[in-house]
Order: sequence, then C-alpha cells, then structure tokens
Amino acid sequence: MTKPAMRVAVTGAAGQIGYALLFRIASGEMLGKDQPVILQLLEIPDEKAQKALKGVIMELEDCAFPLLQEVTAHSDPMTAFKDADVALLVGARPRGPGMERKDLLTVNAQIFTAQGKALNAVASRNVKVLVVGNPANTNAYIAMKSAPDLPARNFTAMLRLDHNRALSQLAAKAGCAVGDIEKLIVWGNHSPTMYPDYRFATLAGKPALSVVNDDEWNRNVFIPTVGKRGAAIIDARGLSSAASAANAAIDHVRDWILGSNGKWVTMGVPSDGSYGIPEGIIYGVPVITKNGEYAVVKDLEIDAFSRERMDLTLKELTEERDGVKHLL
Ligand code: NAI
Repeated sequence: MTKPAMRVAVTGAAGQIGYALLFRIASGEMLGKDQPVILQLLEIPDEKAQKALKGVIMELEDCAFPLLQEVTAHSDPMTAFKDADVALLVGARPRGPGMERKDLLTVNAQIFTAQGKALNAVASRNVKVLVVGNPANTNAYIAMKSAPDLPARNFTAMLRLDHNRALSQLAAKAGCAVGDIEKLIVWGNHSPTMYPDYRFATLAGKPALSVVNDDEWNRNVFIPTVGKRGAAIIDARGLSSAASAANAAIDHVRDWILGSNGKWVTMGVPSDGSYGIPEGIIYGVPVITKNGEYAVVKDLEIDAFSRERMDLTLKELTEERDGVKHLL
C-alpha cells in the first residue's frame, strides 16, 4: 500500500540551495524511496523571485518524479506551511553592503518571527523544522520562540555541513574513508566560532586521537579550516556553498526522520541545559536519532581546551540572542 504523502515546505525555494535541494527531496533521497511527497515552496512576493520559482517548478515537473505528488508555489508563509510535516527554512536576507551584524540580525528576526508564527498557526503539530538560512542558530531560536504551541525540540539549526566538512578533513589527514569515522562532533554556532571535536572519534574502530596524534594540526589547521570553510568556498566559487549545503540539509532531515542507526550526528538543537549550555539556546551537539526523535549524547568529558572553545561559541550565541530579545 502506498504511504500517505508527507508535506515538505521549503523557503527560499528559488535560491541556490533550493535548486540543489528540491530535486533530491522529490527523488526520495530525504524521506525514503517509498515516501510520496508534496512540496510547498515559499519565495518572497517579488515578481522576479516568483517567476524564477515557477521555472524551478516547471523543471520539477519535467523530471516526472514518481514520488512527487504535487508542488505548489507560495508568497505567504501562512499558506506555504499549511499542514507541513517538514519545514526547511532556507530563505534569509544576506548581509548587504554596509550592513552591520546587528542589522542582519534584525531583518532576519522579522522574517523568522513571521515564519515561526505561521508554523505555529498552520503547520502539523509535529512539524520538524530545520533552519538553514543564516544566522541559522539564532534564526531557529527566533522561530521556536514565535511558535509556543509547537514542541520546542522540533526546531533545529543546520550544523551538518560543518560536521560533514570536519569528517572529510579528518579522513584526509588520517588517510581513512569518511565512512570509517564515528563519534565526531561540531559544538556550538554555525559560524567560524564553531568547535569541531574529534576527541571521542574512532577511525575504523581505533581512537582518532592516537591515529592522528597531532595536536598542533588540531588547533592550527583542523579547527580553523573547518570553521572558515564557508569563506574559502565563497573565495573560490564566487558564491556560497549550495550543493554541499543542500546535501547537509538532506542528511540532517533524513537521519532525524529515518534514524542514524546508532551513529552520532551533529544537530543544532535547543539546549536541555547539558554541557553548561543555557536552556533553549540552539547549540550544535552530538545526537543519536531514532524513530523520528533525537537524543543528545550526554556526559562526555569536557577538558579545559574544549570548555574554552565551547564557551567562546556560546558567548556569540548569547550575544545574538540578547540582540534580538526585544523583538520577540
Ligand atoms: P540565495 O540568495 O541563492 O537564495 C535565497 C532565497 O531566499 C532567494 O531566492 C530569496 O528570494 C529567498 N528569500 C529571502 N527571504 C525570504 C523569505 N522571507 N521568505 C522566503 N524566501 C525568502 O541563497 P542560498 O545560497 O540559497 O542560501 C540561503 C541561506 O542559507 C543563506 O542565508 C545562507 O547564508 C545560508 N547557508 C547556510 C548554511 C548552513 O550550513 N547553515 C550553509 C550555506 C548557506
């Protein structure tokens, strides 16, 4: 028997990431090859954006994906999020010339307040929300705070691209396959302050710390390379990461819904107070996912260096939160 379709809302659907994301969702890579989907796509009301969105929808139609039941275009979150089971909040305002960080936070706070309220009003009561649009952690926090009737734990931010970047850097250094690595973590904010941490990682079952055995590399190469990878891509491509970001969004939601099979993955989730992170702050932590739920990996030892790094990225997040407090 065919399963009932799942409704997936995607914002910023005519953007770069949208273009790399929608076709993979429609082909079944995110929710499973037996799961029909309905795509509800949101763009800004601007004529050019809506026209571009129509073009993307024409291409989706031309793929004749057997799992894609319906695609709808929207300019209002109240219709785009109606009954959504999954919401991928990709669209955000990028930093314009001369724009201060504070201004960026404010314009995005307006977008994510409105979208959080719309999710609260019309989405499925168990909607799973992934915020990709930057500043992702704080935007997720704003959406969560604007949706008091929905479970707070269903609001997450994307740290998976950072996790995947860390995996590939570590695999290259250790000369192992990416798939051999387990128990890697990226703590904190999706920003250069994030802390990629392989202290608990294993490479084909062997402790990564003893295989790599190069603390200088960890501090001066690994951590900054992962943290600044987004800027390196912009420098090389002239555009920000899109295919790898879309891929990470697929990984994040797929694992959340279908399970990580006991593996640790990094998700930005509202803190439950563990690891000294104040409750509610959306912070990258290791989780194991199963049956549509995630569980934070608890009681890992935090050494002095890690504490310092984790506090640094936390400080940035609390400053961002305080910067938007008056708008919530
Ligand atoms: P883009 O500029 O190509 O596309 C963004 C789209 O969002 C545009 O079509 C725009 O019209 C739309 N949009 C803006 N405000 C909207 C709103 N209120 N409602 C609906 N749509 C809206 O940007 P791109 O490359 O697709 O990136 C999207 C976001 O993802 C950016 O904020 C970027 O910084 C972020 N990003 C996050 C990553 C992460 O790891 N968390 C990685 C890479 C990008």
